[in-house]
Amino acid sequence: MTRILMVCLGNICRSPMADGLLRRKVIENNLDVFVDSAGTANYHVGKQADERMRQTAKANHTNIDELRARQFTASDFSLFDKIYAMDKENYDNIIRLAKNPSDKLKVDLLLNELSPGENRAVPDPYYGTEKDFQEVYHLLDHATDVVLSKIKNGTIR
Ligand code: 4NP
Repeated sequence: MTRILMVCLGNICRSPMADGLLRRKVIENNLDVFVDSAGTANYHVGKQADERMRQTAKANHTNIDELRARQFTASDFSLFDKIYAMDKENYDNIIRLAKNPSDKLKVDLLLNELSPGENRAVPDPYYGTEKDFQEVYHLLDHATDVVLSKIKNGTIR
């Protein structure tokens, strides 16, 4: 089984959307993949995803109502094969907790799947508008499509 973790700052906007999209897609494709998400900060631990992100998800046939925020911990390195950060700050916070080079190799920016080597960020929509949540949804939909095809062709294992 492939195990994939999506990580942002609060685990209430970007990573739950990425998590929910990839969960739906792996189920639709009958793939043996475990998907989860976490935040590098602890501000929102135990909370549901942001109402605006949940509405955006629903409008796009994806339900993330069951997800609850949790904080990323160093033990996630042994629980997951691939760890995707939404932006450079999250990436740095994750890398800081790595114990060895093999931990570090598991981590990448999610949008590097969409535009390799460009180190683009999924912008934080928390203080943004409806349009920002839409933009985040579209970026994550495209990026999780690439992750899905890589799982299918065995590039991500
Ligand atoms: P997320 O968005 O990292 O995509 O979940 C944020 C959620 C909350 C905060 C910042 C970003 N916050 O500062 O509380």
